[in-house]
Amino acid sequence: MFTILVFLSLVCGLEGADVVLSCSLIEEGGGMGGMMGGAMFKRTPSTLVFRDLVGNDGLSPELVTPYNPPETPNADDLIFELTLPSIQVPNADLLLHADCNEQEVVCEISRYVPRGAELDSLPAHFIGSVQLEGGGISLTLVLQTLHSETTQSDTQPLMQSKLNLPLSQSGTLRTEVVFVVFSRVPSIVAPIGGDVLLDCGFRQKNSVPGQDVALEWRIQHKGNGRKILDMKARETGADVGQDLFVDREGTSAEPDLLVRDGNASLTLRRLKVTDEGTYICTVGSGEFQTQQIVQLHITQPPRITLSEEKLTFQDTTPQKLSCHCHRYYPLDVQVEWFSQAPSEEEPVSLSKESSLSSHRQHSDGTYSLSSHLTLQPDKNPPGTVITCRVSHPTLETPSDATLTVDKPEPQTAFWTIVLMLAISVVFLYQAFKGAEN
Ligand SMILES: *[C@@H]1O[C@H](CO)[C@@H](O)[C@H](O)[C@H]1NC(C)=O
Repeated sequence: MFTILVFLSLVCGLEGADVVLSCSLIEEGGGMGGMMGGAMFKRTPSTLVFRDLVGNDGLSPELVTPYNPPETPNADDLIFELTLPSIQVPNADLLLHADCNEQEVVCEISRYVPRGAELDSLPAHFIGSVQLEGGGISLTLVLQTLHSETTQSDTQPLMQSKLNLPLSQSGTLRTEVVFVVFSRVPSIVAPIGGDVLLDCGFRQKNSVPGQDVALEWRIQHKGNGRKILDMKARETGADVGQDLFVDREGTSAEPDLLVRDGNASLTLRRLKVTDEGTYICTVGSGEFQTQQIVQLHITQPPRITLSEEKLTFQDTTPQKLSCHCHRYYPLDVQVEWFSQAPSEEEPVSLSKESSLSSHRQHSDGTYSLSSHLTLQPDKNPPGTVITCRVSHPTLETPSDATLTVDKPEPQTAFWTIVLMLAISVVFLYQAFKGAEN
């Protein structure tokens, strides 16, 4: 099987309204020996050029210098030149604004055979997957080679050495995007109990009205995969017909948005910890089918409480204090302890003296944990502030629970009794004295 993968971190450059992505072409297999021990890959540098991704509006004139192909076409060069003829991908301009030093772009290209086509038939097809690291947009493009009908030149076109496909006059492999599945939010974080929309959409060149659009959403988590929605929708007159399979309560997609707007987004209601995972949105229409990945992370910040509201040392007995972190997700939580006596300028870490309970997992998948500390009276005079500081991925800054060591209360009851007794004794003495007189 002939498969070509182009991936790797790309260096990209903004050249006018064209976006130029440099990457490596990777051939799978290729008879390098060794059927065992995993796939063998061969890398070849490659370039992806998005032509006129967006209009030139708003770009300063000195930036508008279109991509210039190499002066002398070379059969070994792999330059995929992409045009998006009638396809408008929302937010594709993010690729233009990706400052390449800051935001990495990852790209993957593989050979693709549409439904019902022959492997070596022309036009040839490729799948190009472009992802902006750190969010933004993720695109899976079906590229179809364009072959110019300008046969007036008698010379045979230069053939790309690896793909055996004719190159354009300028030495590029001219393709157009005929189908794209994209997500503008390829990674999303949502709290337990909330609702979430997993963004996925598609666009097709020359879509046929009334044609079936097939949508499938699968969840992949820790090696297990499960289909949670399967929908076939078609526009029939003013109506949208659909066949639907759903394997999760509170899950929906909109058949009319799917066929009319190319909106394949999935709504999940009342999220649970078990909904976390990698979601695969697969859209099929006509001869094309491809997919997009959306990551869903479930989070729940811990509720933090101390075991005591007040702390006083009546004598030299040490006191126990616990800090409880209730019902959080995911698992990673860090608990630190500090004390700061009134005479100290900086808080002192007590973390080394503390001990952690093991995690308890609740039936809803959330965790709880406690940290225990024994406090000595001599080291914690009244006015000392004790802090339990909890760090968790859901908290932008660590969250504190604090208490202040109180002065020991004067033992009023004891002294009252002593005073009462003294008064009584004096009174009785006076009374006896009076009686004697
Ligand atoms: C799909 O529709 C929802 C709800 O109207 C919207 O929030 C979302 O942005 C749309 N997504 C796409 C890919 O069109």
